[in-house]
Amino acid sequence: MKASSDPEAVCVDEELDSLFYRLIEVDESIALNMIIVLIGAPGAGKGTQARLLEERRGLPQISTGDMLRAIARTETPIAKEVRAVQASGKLISDDLVIRVVQERTSREDCKGGFVLDGFPRTIVQATMLENLAFEQHQKVVAALVDVQFDLLEMRATGRRSCPVCGEIYNIHFKPPQKDNVCDLHPEAELIHRADDTPEKIKVRLATYEQQTQPLIDYYEASKRLWHLDGTREADVIYAELDKLLNQEGHQTSDGEARN
Ligand code: AP5
Ligand code: MG
Repeated sequence: MKASSDPEAVCVDEELDSLFYRLIEVDESIALNMIIVLIGAPGAGKGTQARLLEERRGLPQISTGDMLRAIARTETPIAKEVRAVQASGKLISDDLVIRVVQERTSREDCKGGFVLDGFPRTIVQATMLENLAFEQHQKVVAALVDVQFDLLEMRATGRRSCPVCGEIYNIHFKPPQKDNVCDLHPEAELIHRADDTPEKIKVRLATYEQQTQPLIDYYEASKRLWHLDGTREADVIYAELDKLLNQEGHQTSDGEARN
């Protein structure tokens, strides 16, 4: 880990180090299921890759952004707060996000591993994930979908998604066949997210730089980070990810290795 002069940061670093060493103490002969963490700035393509992993490898996509947007649409007391924070481009409290992830990952479909799209985003969340992986005998690998900041605005402002199946489109790079409706659900008008405006994207990028980029160093230091050039075609990026997962020993949900 990087040395830090901030006493709080030192404590967090030490805690993360000790969790990591506990992880590598796990008997290597036990085949561990994988938790794939997708890290990337807003609009980098985490959701696009997570959907491909779900479709082609049978790994459930766990998107904290989507789950929080679903909470925001409810009539619960917490919904108003989630709506306001998401719309601001800042992060929801660690406490709430962790509870949401704990509940979702405890379900049966996650036993064989899963993809985390947009989680962890803070050191506190990363610590929680190490504990969860340790308890469930799962192994964490992280993939950074790397895209330079000037491209991200076009990706995010151009994004549209289907409210029925979640399919992600882009008016510049991946337009639907017919304007503003999903190819698979012609009755469904595509959604333009409230936080996909140039002003909100600036805030989201700043939040990413301050709170999420430190995780890159963490996963790098523990040698669990793959760098993916996110400026290529989505299928080309996926092919590289697929290859890395095969090398790491991941199998599809039907038990087939995909070499
Ligand atoms: P979230 O929904 O996770 O948003 P985000 O991180 O800002 O990421 P995006 O969903 O905008 O982008 P993406 O990387 O998924 O890109 P996509 O594949 O869609 O979070 C929203 C908010 O929820 C946060 O701001 C926060 O408030 C809250 N939140 C969520 N998780 C949290 C957490 N853990 N802790 C606290 N708060 C949390 O692609 C984008 C566009 O580009 C699409 O149009 C797509 O078609 C296109 N595209 C994708 N790949 C390519 C490619 N290779 N080439 C060309 N175009 C591409
Ligand atoms: Mg997303």
